[in-house]
Amino acid sequence: MKKIVVLSGAGVSAESGIKTFRDSGGLWDGYNVMDVASPEGWTKDRELVLGFYNERRKNAISAKPNEGHKIIAELESQFQVIVITQNVDNLHEKAGSTKVLHLHGELFKSRSTVDPNLIYDIEGWALNIGDKCDKGSQLRPHIVWFGEMVPMMDVAVEETLSADIFIVIGTSLQVYPAAGLLEYVKESNPKFIIDPNMPELLPRSNLFLIEEIGSIGMNKVREILIKEYL
Ligand code: APR
Repeated sequence: MKKIVVLSGAGVSAESGIKTFRDSGGLWDGYNVMDVASPEGWTKDRELVLGFYNERRKNAISAKPNEGHKIIAELESQFQVIVITQNVDNLHEKAGSTKVLHLHGELFKSRSTVDPNLIYDIEGWALNIGDKCDKGSQLRPHIVWFGEMVPMMDVAVEETLSADIFIVIGTSLQVYPAAGLLEYVKESNPKFIIDPNMPELLPRSNLFLIEEIGSIGMNKVREILIKEYL
């Protein structure tokens, strides 16, 4: 079976009613990113940070996967598919994708502030001051904040190096190291970029730009994959 690696960003969840970050009206329009998504912000005002993620969970808890997510999951019937996502929502899993690597953490999980290996599921949407780990420390969102290491990056590079086909969907490719994954795809292998507002991209061979929203773009890519890469 040919191996597809999908790199996804907030745009793939836009049609499920989840805001992107940098589009107009996006999440970063309403917040100073360093106040709510950095270790410094956490030290300065935990209540603000917990409130920010509680709101995001409230919004995401009833979100449903859209056709873009579903097609990515369905491709597993004919291809080996690895999803490397920058998204912290669980819509790829809800759509049925079985191999999902969350580079930036997971919204519905919390972790200890003294032992990063202590990770817990969050029931419902609330994580509050006073919620403690087994070692008695305040729990924090299990999210990779700006300035923090991206623990899954090595695995993501490994997967990308052995990709036969690479699909990028719904990411502005502005945040590193995730945006750097494109560099690891073999020059001779096809790279599909799906985005209604195509990000700046260095010219390279076998690059196919599909200026569409996720659901339409994935339909087009699936047609090409089945016709030319099975
Ligand atoms: N379908 C596909 N793509 C879309 C859609 C859609 N319906 N709507 C918007 N997009 C595109 C936008 O054009 C943009 O290029 O999705 C992209 C979203 O970009 P960002 O908001 O920058 O989100 P992302 O690239 O995922 O951000 C990366 O930055 O804020 C941090 O940690 C956070 O994981 C996040 C990282």
